[in-house]
Amino acid sequence: MGQGFFFTFEGIDGCGKSTQLARVAEALRARGADILITREPGGPPISEKIREILISPDNKRMYPETECLLYLAARAQHMREIIKPAIDKGQTVLCDRFEQATFAYQGYGRGLDIDFLKNTNNFAASGISPHITFIFDIPVELSQQRLSKIGKGKDRLESEGAQFFQKVRDGYLAAANSSPNKIKLLDGAKGRDELTEEILGIISSYIKNL
Ligand code: TMP
Repeated sequence: MGQGFFFTFEGIDGCGKSTQLARVAEALRARGADILITREPGGPPISEKIREILISPDNKRMYPETECLLYLAARAQHMREIIKPAIDKGQTVLCDRFEQATFAYQGYGRGLDIDFLKNTNNFAASGISPHITFIFDIPVELSQQRLSKIGKGKDRLESEGAQFFQKVRDGYLAAANSSPNKIKLLDGAKGRDELTEEILGIISSYIKNL
């Protein structure tokens, strides 16, 4: 069996990426594809423990440098324990967030140096990057409305203000602009069915025989 594919789903909080990932996975499985779903920060137990530290509202005093290294530490474990073995087995990996979140949140949002982030991300991810990244773009106002509708307590990152999310959104848009072949910018305000079809069309052009 050949190498599998690696697709990632990104966007600001409340953009709808997790809903789309679940829908796309279901549709691909129904067509017989061997799909592995995972998320960042998270995946294997060590990375899920790091996730708890990262999103806990108790950790408001965390410095951007600490935050950045924890996201990358979680990624290093995730890549080696879950993502790379799955790709090597020929599975198609759908991951909720990955490297673009680090560039947008820690780079644009927190103001950390993008070149440093790219180099350390490369180290953490052992040089593996997604075949295609889907970015679900929505205005910050819509993101804030959706987050307050969900009703659950906001996590540490979700508690950031609109100004922070505007910077993160700008980061995602800049990334999509500079790598149009690898990063597909989607209108996250579109209807669910239309978005799912759009993504399936792109993925099907990679995975033959679907
Ligand atoms: P989630 O809400 O999509 O599960 O992601 C948890 C939070 O982590 C979300 O607010 C975005 C943030 N994040 C970063 O800041 N940098 C990263 O590298 C990743 C993977 C996520």
